[in-house]
Amino acid sequence: MKLIAPSVLSADFAHLEQELQMINRSQADWLHIDVMDGSFVPNISFGFPLMKPFRQYCTKPLDVHLMIVNPEKYVERFCDAGAWSVGFHLEAVDDPMPALNRIKAKGVRTCLTVNPDIDITRLIPYLDRVDMVLIMSVFAGFGGQKFIPGTIDRIRLVREEITRRNLSTLIEVDGGINTHNAASVFEAGADVLVAGSAVFGAEDPEKAIIQMKA
Ligand code: DX5
Ligand code: ZN
Repeated sequence: MKLIAPSVLSADFAHLEQELQMINRSQADWLHIDVMDGSFVPNISFGFPLMKPFRQYCTKPLDVHLMIVNPEKYVERFCDAGAWSVGFHLEAVDDPMPALNRIKAKGVRTCLTVNPDIDITRLIPYLDRVDMVLIMSVFAGFGGQKFIPGTIDRIRLVREEITRRNLSTLIEVDGGINTHNAASVFEAGADVLVAGSAVFGAEDPEKAIIQMKA
């Protein structure tokens, strides 16, 4: 599977409706939504109020990436706001199961995420309990960072485990993805690539999306 989820974090919010119409016309599969709280990450993005225009103007599934502390307090509200999938960071919680169960109870797809400095094997026990894992290829917090090359081996390790156990868990990769490295990240075993600046900052965003899927 080769899916592309443009991150709306890099969109021009002064022209949000046009940006989302471009996404609707494009070959993009999902819209990736980066929620930052200034506590789990040293940056603040946006929260519930923007879910409304995202849902209103975007026809693609809304893939919510929570970079927040205490995700169990807020996951249900993101589900109710129209999320198609909701993910949060494993390192933000003691036990991910309560928040995962709340998302599941809403009938929404679950995702567990880890930053680049978290031992990737910590995801392994959850591979059969989530719909997707999100492997960060930059440190969560900002768009426009450089892809960390060591991510490739982390993707391969998770892919091998998913294959070995015959699971259908998707692997999403987020951060520093562009038209030059997308093919190698898919090759390592990713199903879904998030791309912010490489889509919204491109001269021709629709073409950039097509090139990443090639
Ligand atoms: C980083 C976010 C990413 C980011 C990706 O904290 O999770 O989704 O927006 O942006 P690029 O593609 O520019 O690295
Ligand atoms: Zn993200």
